[in-house]
Amino acid sequence: MRKKSKIVVSCLMAAGLIITPAAAAQEGPPNQQAAQAFDNKVIKKIDKERIYQHVYDLSVGIGIRVAGTEGELKAVNYIANQYRSMGLDVEIQPFELKTYQSPTEVSLTISNSALSLSPRAFSYSPATPAEGIGGEVVYAGLGGPSDFAKTDVEGKIALIERGSYTFIEKVENAAAAGAKAVIMYNNGSGPLSASLNSTGKFVPTVGLTRDEGLQILGQLEEGQSVEATVKVVGGGVVTRTSHNVIATKKPHKNHDTGQIIYVGSHHDSVPGAPGASDNASGVGVNLEIARAISNMQTDTEIRFLTFGAEELGLLGSSHYVSTLTEDEKDRSVGMFNFDMVGSKNAGDMIMYTVDGKRNVITDTAASASVRVSKPLTYGQVGRSDHQPFHDAGIAAAVYSYAPLEPQYHQPTDTIEHISKERMENIARIVTASVYQIARKDTPALEKSRVAPQPVEPEFENRPIQ
Ligand code: BES
Ligand code: ZN
Repeated sequence: MRKKSKIVVSCLMAAGLIITPAAAAQEGPPNQQAAQAFDNKVIKKIDKERIYQHVYDLSVGIGIRVAGTEGELKAVNYIANQYRSMGLDVEIQPFELKTYQSPTEVSLTISNSALSLSPRAFSYSPATPAEGIGGEVVYAGLGGPSDFAKTDVEGKIALIERGSYTFIEKVENAAAAGAKAVIMYNNGSGPLSASLNSTGKFVPTVGLTRDEGLQILGQLEEGQSVEATVKVVGGGVVTRTSHNVIATKKPHKNHDTGQIIYVGSHHDSVPGAPGASDNASGVGVNLEIARAISNMQTDTEIRFLTFGAEELGLLGSSHYVSTLTEDEKDRSVGMFNFDMVGSKNAGDMIMYTVDGKRNVITDTAASASVRVSKPLTYGQVGRSDHQPFHDAGIAAAVYSYAPLEPQYHQPTDTIEHISKERMENIARIVTASVYQIARKDTPALEKSRVAPQPVEPEFENRPIQ
């Protein structure tokens, strides 16, 4: 937690605004009632039908929203228009990413052979010319340095078995030894799909099943000369533009604490998945919290954010945090992140921090959860957009469920599995939390209250998948 937000925490604690579920039970009725009166002013505005409509529009109306694609851009414009309609200041923040585009044609043919092969191009394999790369196949064992020391693959195609070294090491070794292409076969059952990366020095590489690989090896062991043609056509690393949406609710001009709260959710999905739960649900909740709070008088700047390219490695949130000045970071109270908050098929609601420790965000929400719902459970997870905020010293937590639903990252992550009530519940808790921090009219009663001693919650370490 950064210096100035520590002040916020201690002020909130002194004001009795932060309590753990255990402390909540000890809280006196007058203060509880006062806090609930403030909660009610804002949470009564939360409309689960509106949240659901956003999830519908994003996951059915728009559909798959992979970062850098037309689908993501439609989602970005939809979200920006929603925030604009609430009177917020909206900025669309572009950033570039490098991603791998799948090839349009992948094949492997062995001359003078009736072998029928179903090769898969490795992700990030360099492309071949349209006519492919032809050459003699040589067996290079496991593709380690000792294999290439005893095998001449210069200008040839290396046949390598999976195992012992990483895919990247094997293909880099083959490229360094002068191979023109690599054929790799599995060491277990099933097809071999694998990934290289965007930075190594590779040659075109395809994966085969174990049976397919052993048939080629069999021909070599019989002393035959095997000539192959590898085609990986049209794929490669491409630069694309993804976007974050930044909607700001400025504080009241005469009542400005100078502090900032963030409410974030990623809007992109993985390829093939309409991402109703992951993460149209998080965006829907985010938009509804923004609407509920947009007309309230607040003394703290609130930034509603949706991020692109979370699924490609938290790229949007990392980019956003990299644009914050030191002054902005110092003024940051914390970040509430929503990721997968809609599924009927997931487990209990959890709030996760990156380090497994409580902070101003979890404490405020723990307190609000007791007032407006039931106590939230804690856990430790990164894996989402709260991570870059945490890394920058800003208190952050992600709201989700454990265990995750079976539809996670599947084409079946569709609107049918979405629960309006689950989204409404988390929207109520976080709306009350945000308003608690940002509202300007904290009553004297609460200010004079002696804060209960915080109780260290037991963080759970549940596997989420
Ligand atoms: N929504 C998921 C996973 C998740 C669930 C994170 C609950 C946090 C709380 C997220 O979009 C995701 O798939 N993340 C990736 C990692 C990321 C760094 C690419 C993952 O978990 O594999
Ligand atoms: Zn997600």
